[in-house]
Amino acid sequence: TLKRHVLVAAISGIATAGIALQAHAATEVNLGHTLSSTSHYSVGADAFKETLERLSDGEFTVTEHTSGSLGGEREMIEGLQIGTVDVVITSTGPLGNFVPESYVLDLPFLFENYDQARCVLDSELGDELLEKMGEHDLVGLAWSENGFRHLTNSQREIATPADAEGLRVRTMENAVHQEAFRQMGARPTPMAFPELFTALQQGTVDGQENPITVIVATNFWEVQDYLSLTGHVYSPAIVLGSPILLDGLSDEERGWFMEAAAASAQATREEVSRLEREGVALLEENGMTVKTDIDIAPFQEAVQPAYEIFTSEYGTEMLERVQETA
Ligand code: PAF
Repeated sequence: TLKRHVLVAAISGIATAGIALQAHAATEVNLGHTLSSTSHYSVGADAFKETLERLSDGEFTVTEHTSGSLGGEREMIEGLQIGTVDVVITSTGPLGNFVPESYVLDLPFLFENYDQARCVLDSELGDELLEKMGEHDLVGLAWSENGFRHLTNSQREIATPADAEGLRVRTMENAVHQEAFRQMGARPTPMAFPELFTALQQGTVDGQENPITVIVATNFWEVQDYLSLTGHVYSPAIVLGSPILLDGLSDEERGWFMEAAAASAQATREEVSRLEREGVALLEENGMTVKTDIDIAPFQEAVQPAYEIFTSEYGTEMLERVQETA
């Protein structure tokens, strides 16, 4: 009957409008990191957002979650695997727990300077490691940067490994780092970053180690008096995606994510370089005593066993390839 036809037409009209609406509704991409909105990771997150929204002409919108509001780095990586977060900017700190091949990058004194580290991460070997993420329910989008890590503490000036004896140092949840600090004679305490400020404030730990970028972005001078520029390990960062979102995208859409991640990494590296130039003065202005002229040879020697433990577990091939590329 006519009435029925009108009803069917009306229902299908509503359905078509719904599909059309759905096709145009932007997909929200939730991006998480552990640092403040003034950090180098936020500079990278802003570049990711700007690039993805521009390339996709608004098909994707990016919402940035800062300061560990989605959890610590280990939790966020788990979130990527189960699809509760879409993109994460993280150090490699907890990554080895998921992708053991990445541990090689966490070896102390592996790289001498930024150029060397960036060159390895931008090489074929870096691409290969990014692809490895795919075997562990993660999508490696780009190598970004955290920076060379230095030691801070509330107790005393540290110039030699002997000065670090017995110091309770928070490390990342990373087996290679924990071993290196144990070898130095310190007492490593692995802990997620969002818990760290309070732990330093309450004296649960005496010190921590992070790049200038992080020490600046977290106002660590409020709880740490001494900084030693040990540069004991280069800390890469990585832009990771969730396979739950990315596996369902077209090649073109995935390409936008890759480009956005590359822009993010580039912007972050520039900010790291700027803070390497300007950050130490800022920390001194805020009352930190900074030890700059450190003889790193005894530190290098102290952490040598970390290399032996690493190679006995994972072999020498990866390490040799990194050293050849550097
Ligand atoms: O110390 C850490 O856990 C990391 O360096 C940090 C600060 C979360 C940045 O990736």
